[in-house]
Amino acid sequence: MIPQHVLAVLAAFLVGGSNAHTIFQKLWVNGVDQGYLNGIRYPTYDGPITDVTSNDIICNGGPNPLVTPYSQTVINVPAGATVQAEWHHVLQPNGYNSADSADPVDPGHLGPTIAYLAKVPDATQTDVTGLGWFKIQEDGFDGTTWGVTRMYNAKGLHTIKIPSCIPPGNYFLRAEMIALHGASSYPGAQFYMECAQINITGGGSTQPSTVSFPGAYHGTDPGITINIYYPTVTNYTIPGPPVFTCSGSGTSSTTTTKTSSTTSKAWIYRHRALRARHLTFCLDLR
Ligand SMILES: *[C@@H]1O[C@H](CO)[C@@H](O)[C@H](O)[C@H]1NC(C)=O
Ligand SMILES: *[C@@H]1O[C@H](CO)[C@@H](O)[C@H](O)[C@H]1NC(C)=O
Repeated sequence: MIPQHVLAVLAAFLVGGSNAHTIFQKLWVNGVDQGYLNGIRYPTYDGPITDVTSNDIICNGGPNPLVTPYSQTVINVPAGATVQAEWHHVLQPNGYNSADSADPVDPGHLGPTIAYLAKVPDATQTDVTGLGWFKIQEDGFDGTTWGVTRMYNAKGLHTIKIPSCIPPGNYFLRAEMIALHGASSYPGAQFYMECAQINITGGGSTQPSTVSFPGAYHGTDPGITINIYYPTVTNYTIPGPPVFTCSGSGTSSTTTTKTSSTTSKAWIYRHRALRARHLTFCLDLR
């Protein structure tokens, strides 16, 4: 075990770089760019939410104040469309920055990507509380790669399929990524989310069952309080309800993968070193 004081020194040594958080700042609909910050409620600061019981877990805010007035754009999205939430390290009008290794997010921020919808009378309404949310996408851990890493490798694009059978109308699209590098105790997991204002056209009449935010997540959830470095993660349970599907087959949110039988010392030290590095990003929050 590396003593705490050594970790603290390491962390202090490494602090000084910029923080390495992320903001969802652009939506693509069936491959068409909907414009930088257009139809999205965004903060100027890229920090996480860590309190799952706070209203800030809904569409961000609180420690990362949202820019007001909100965009008056409501983005039309055909039911069944493929959309992409585009994430970047900070607000980046010019998109992906190949010179920044922490764009779209620090590669040490490991965890799932998730997306939810909530039907609303008017997607430009200010209030985001008391809504019914249903999950439409999740990408956890496949035994090798985390969902956030797939988003990182895609230069910030987080791909989400809009169900074809849900009723037309205005919705909030809540795109989320969770970073688990400091999640071995609660609060520790870092939740990043922004809400896009969309208008689903076409569609059907299936009413998904819903959950509340706050409420859907708990500090005791196995996918929220977890040490992802040791022991080896063999099954990662993505928080929240199962993904809604039009066929009615709720897919399980547990990914089970093969257990590796041995854990070498080298592996442990490598991961502890990584963890020490990641502590620096937690310190950014203080
Ligand atoms: C949503 O789409 C419908 C169908 O195209 C349209 O009639 C309605 O005006 C749109 N609403 C908003 C808020 O864009
Ligand atoms: C993995 O599965 C075990 C047994 O079902 C469960 O107790 C544990 O919470 C799971 N871990 C995660 C991270 O989901």
